Amino acid sequence: MARDGYKVFIVYFSPAGSTRHIARVMEKRFRELGIEPSLFDLAENSELSQAISEQIRGHSCLIVGSPVYVSHAAPPIMQFIAGLPPDTTAYAVPFVTWGGASSGIALFEMARELQRGGFRILGAAKVMAVHCLMWQLEDPMGKGHPNSEDERMVQELIDEINKNMQSRSSRGIDLSDLAYQKEEVHAEMEKMTLEIAKAHMPIREVDEESCNQCEICAEVCPTASVAFAPYPVFGESCIYCFSCMRTCPEGAIKANLSEIWQRIRDRAEFFKERPYTKIFLASLSVEQEA
Ligand SMILES: Cc1cc2nc3c(=O)[nH]c(=O)nc-3n(C[C@H](O)[C@H](O)[C@H](O)COP(=O)(O)O)c2cc1C
Repeated sequence: MARDGYKVFIVYFSPAGSTRHIARVMEKRFRELGIEPSLFDLAENSELSQAISEQIRGHSCLIVGSPVYVSHAAPPIMQFIAGLPPDTTAYAVPFVTWGGASSGIALFEMARELQRGGFRILGAAKVMAVHCLMWQLEDPMGKGHPNSEDERMVQELIDEINKNMQSRSSRGIDLSDLAYQKEEVHAEMEKMTLEIAKAHMPIREVDEESCNQCEICAEVCPTASVAFAPYPVFGESCIYCFSCMRTCPEGAIKANLSEIWQRIRDRAEFFKERPYTKIFLASLSVEQEA
């Protein structure tokens, strides 16, 4: 229990590390404010909803962080939220990191599901990050992010959350504050799921000459989707984060990502969402300046 009488849980999913980085910035800020948060990585414990649901009751704040995947939150995050107890009276703060194509409707959907579970949404953030599918490029979208300015904004969010939790008086934000995509874009994004997008993802091939079966790809897979038979095979629950390919020390997992890079850039051009970090609070809405 924190000194100031409220508990903080930070739950995140972060195959490529940006969301984890922001979760840690938040953790550090809470510590500086005298609050001792509990930090959970969903990739390490997929049964987390049950494990922490009892503790979340009472005067608690649950912070949930996800990367944006095809305009939505990553599937393990939505499963986590769905598994939370339905009648909590706690507060919640969703945040996403996104790679400059579009932050989509991830924050809106996370907040809506948290609200359905009885959480009051205190605030939210969409944090600019390097596009994790562009790690092979010298000039990826979101290069250099999250940077110190992004971190400062995240700290500002935590400071406000802390004030609200201390005073116990926040009305929170409205779901409509997070419905910031144009109506027709929002509707289109609702239809396009990761499952559908999977059909357009590049095929990975394993170079059996180079693969030394070290199983690092299986270890880093956040959804436990890599099996060995006797070389890596990728299962149904794969979410196409490409962590297996990115981390293979032998470069034995191969895929041609060039088409996807073009598609990402086309989408950025189409959606024209300002590639900045933004925080959402009841009393203020702050966006980085160009
Ligand atoms: C399968 C997949 C889909 C993605 N879809 C989007 C998207 O719709 N919009 C966007 O801006 N970034 C998208 N990204 C980029 C990630 O949201 C971004 O790089 C994020 O910061 C990754 O978080 P992590 O480093 O915590 O894994 C996608 C990445 C992957 C792997």
